[in-house]
Order: sequence, then C-alpha cells, then structure tokens
Amino acid sequence: MLGSSGLASASSRVIIEKPFGTDLKSARSLNAAVHAVFDESQVFRIDHFLGKESVDNILAFRFANGLFEPIWNREHISYVQIDVPETLTIEGRAAFYDATGAYRDMVVTHLFQVLGFLAMEPPVSLAAKPLRDEKGKVFDVLRPIDVRHVVRGQYAGYKSEPGVPKSSDTETMVALRVEVDNWRWHGVPFFLRSGKALAASRQVVTLGFHRPPLQMFRTHRRDAPNEIVIDFADPGTISIEFMAKEPGPEMILGATEMSFRYGESFAQANALEGYERLILLAMLGDQSLFTRADGIERVWEISEPLLTSPPPAEPYEKGSWGPTSVDKLTAPYRWHLRNHG
Ligand code: BG6
Repeated sequence: MLGSSGLASASSRVIIEKPFGTDLKSARSLNAAVHAVFDESQVFRIDHFLGKESVDNILAFRFANGLFEPIWNREHISYVQIDVPETLTIEGRAAFYDATGAYRDMVVTHLFQVLGFLAMEPPVSLAAKPLRDEKGKVFDVLRPIDVRHVVRGQYAGYKSEPGVPKSSDTETMVALRVEVDNWRWHGVPFFLRSGKALAASRQVVTLGFHRPPLQMFRTHRRDAPNEIVIDFADPGTISIEFMAKEPGPEMILGATEMSFRYGESFAQANALEGYERLILLAMLGDQSLFTRADGIERVWEISEPLLTSPPPAEPYEKGSWGPTSVDKLTAPYRWHLRNHG
C-alpha cells in the first residue's frame, strides 16, 4: 500500500515496530514485502530496548574502558543472565497477547537484542554496518533453542482475563538457556527470563565470575556474589558485587558492592527515552541501533524448535518468580534477582 500510494519514494524512510513477524516464515515474507518497495537502507525496524541509555551504555562500558573487556569472556565469566520480570498483567491486551506470548513479545525481540550487545566482538566503529555486522555474527552462532532448557509459565487467573480463551496455553512467562557457541562464549550459559505478573518489575543483566580456585577464607560462602550487575531500567545503574573483609579482629567476609548510578552521575535532563532516541536516529538516517533483515530472520530461525514443539505452560502464582522449574533451569547458579528482587 505504501508503494502503490506513492509513499515509498527513494527518499522515504519507514520505521517498523516489533514484533517483526511471528516466526521465520512470516518474517521472511514480511521482509520480502518490505523489500519489494523499500531498499534495506530505508528500513528502520525499531526495538525500543536498543534506545535505552543503559543498554547503549553496555557498548561504552565494554569498549571505552581497558578494565572490563579483557575479562568479558569464558575464561572469567561462568554465566550471563538477562532478566526482565514485570509485575503488570496483560492489562486488557488479550487480543494481542494471547496470540503472541512472552517469548515473541519480549525474548525474540528485546532480550536477544540486549544479548547481541553483551556478546558481540568489538566492532571496528559504531557505524551502522560494523555494529550490526558484529551483532549479526552473535545471532549466527546462537545454537537453535533446546526445548529441554525452556520453562513456559502461565499465571493463575490468566484464562479468566477478558478475551482469553479458557483453553489457552499461551505463556505469560518464559525462561530459557541460550548458547552462544563461539571462541569467546563456548560453554557459558546465557539465561533469559521475562514474564507478566511476576514478583518485581526489573530489567537486569548479570555477569557472574568464576569462583577463585582456592577457598582460603573460612566464612567464604559457596554462593558468595561475584557479579557485574547492569540494571538497565531507566535511569539505570551498574554495580560490581564482591566480597570484602568486615571490620573486626577476625577475617570475616561480607558481601558488598561498588556502584555507578546514572541518576546521580550525569544530568538526567539530557536523558532520552528509548523511542525518542530511536526516532531521532531514524530522522537522521542512522541505522546503527535498528535491527536488520538477516538478524531478525536468524533469531526466528533458532527459535523454530521452541515455536514448533513448545513445552506445556506450567501454572504459577501471581507475584511469584514463576514455576519452580525456573530455579532448576539455572542450577548450579541462581537467578540474581532471587536475592535482590
Ligand atoms: C513491549 C512489550 O515491547 O515492551 C510489553 O510489548 C512490555 O509487553 C514492554 O511491557 C516493556 O517495555 P519498557 O518500556 O517497560 O521497558
């Protein structure tokens, strides 16, 4: 329609909201329809998480400092979590939500884009091509989702929401383990979770470090935190959680943290909301923070095993952290928000 009404001229740009398709086949046919009238350089597939200050700050944190990048790999990191629980329910969006579910609404879109920034190799510059090439390489090495490492949940009372069929098996929560199988990340599990009616509304990335080889401190608990925690809910914080000696005559350890808080560090008046930033970039013609046709198709492709054979949705109570199997998924590690929710 944009083409036949003359709106797809060579100088036009089109912004397309997520989710882009509902599976690989629909994403391919949508890309084909878009490319019939627009060149890829005119297409801006928006994912508002990529416009969040704290998500873009992942690039600064990693690539503007000499301190973190050398330890950002399997030699030092034992797990990564991208955890986006929400307390809100579907709030009247049954028509959209029941056909979509948590995986399509949040994971194949937002959480995979954040994973791309966390896992990518340093791009040669922040221009659109090198940045999106590196993100694309991460998607290329994602292993197809193994449904044995997926937990789907549905909150109690979901089937009574107006507009939801009584037989619905749509997941209102999903947690899964993803493998980025390359030189940097081989063997490091990436745990992703998002869902509605959960215990807290948070947007948190956690990188957990290997334990020291020798436990020389008597009070060193096995689950002592040693994590970088990036809270990317605006205005966002970054904390490093570590053990320190507590004052006193004995060598007793206590958990503590070092923190950077956006709200206290820079002028918040200049902060842009995700969509503000991205729409500005689209007007400027800068595609760096937009998703590309091949990257989108690839994340749908690795999602096929889950979309074709989803495990049944397990019930969970509203206000909980989801079904108990969510905790087993990360064993021997724990969800960071279990202790800090
Ligand atoms: C949207 C989803 O894309 O992102 C919603 O459709 C979700 O279900 C929302 O609540 C979360 O975004 P934000 O802006 O709260 O980070």
